[in-house]
Amino acid sequence: MSVIGVISMKGGVGKTSTTANLATALGSQLGDGRVYTVDLDPQNALHWHFGLIDQDDSGVCEQSLHEGNWRNAMLESSFNVRCLPYGNVAETDREAFESLLSQSDQWVNEQLKAAELSDNVVVVIDSPPGPSVYLKQVCECADLILIVLLADAGSYATIPEMETWLDTYTTKRPELKVYYVLNQIDRSETLNRDTAAFLHRQLKPRLCPVDIHNDEAVAEALAFQQPVLSYEPHCQASHDFVRLAMWTINTLNK
Ligand SMILES: Nc1ncnc2c1ncn2[C@@H]1O[C@H](COP(=O)(O)OP(=O)(O)OP(=O)(O)O)[C@@H](O)[C@H]1O
Ligand SMILES: [Mg+2]
Repeated sequence: MSVIGVISMKGGVGKTSTTANLATALGSQLGDGRVYTVDLDPQNALHWHFGLIDQDDSGVCEQSLHEGNWRNAMLESSFNVRCLPYGNVAETDREAFESLLSQSDQWVNEQLKAAELSDNVVVVIDSPPGPSVYLKQVCECADLILIVLLADAGSYATIPEMETWLDTYTTKRPELKVYYVLNQIDRSETLNRDTAAFLHRQLKPRLCPVDIHNDEAVAEALAFQQPVLSYEPHCQASHDFVRLAMWTINTLNK
């Protein structure tokens, strides 16, 4: 099993969109039964990208509080990806789950092992923005971390905090691979294009060579509760996510 964590210090940069669309692109490359997503964000939005609405409220949070196996709450989508939602839970349950996570850094790692997924499976985990018990768990269990950044000053300003946070984990786990990914790139906008070029120079070789372009099909696809690869397979973003998936597979295998 390989685990990919999608993280950022800043909110709204495209973590959930990247998780869902990268997972779908991985599913189309690797085939059915090989790709899982886990929503570790109390916003509980990931399953929407796979059209998994009106499901019951079971998910990571409830299964963990009731000592269930995460496998029992994994939902099959129509897009070669299985999705484990966070679950639509009461505030007290969220607090209880977060308290449980804060007591055991390896909780998510242990639950993924207990789910007994095949060795050739890839799990992509979505996370909430900024430092949290969820981010800690992701950094403990991931083989590859993707830090989503916009090409703007707001995202750039969060890099030092992210690097300080990651130092602990890259020191403890030298095998951990960490890359930045630029999202919502718009080469027709001078500031965005120049900032992207600056970030490529600054972050190289820790910047993923595949940028995800700003493409309204990404937001439209979500409105139709589909991954963009299903909604508009030949748009720029779909092309980018396929390339990101190929790069991800190569990087995991290095
Ligand atoms: N490449 C893209 N092109 C166009 N719009 C995008 C792209 N990526 C994300 N978006 C849009 O940006 C918004 C935020 O995306 P998303 O919810 O994935 O961010 P997030 O980092 O998960 O947010 P949060 O920090 O709240 O969890 C959404 O409206 C989404 O449709
Ligand atoms: Mg999100």
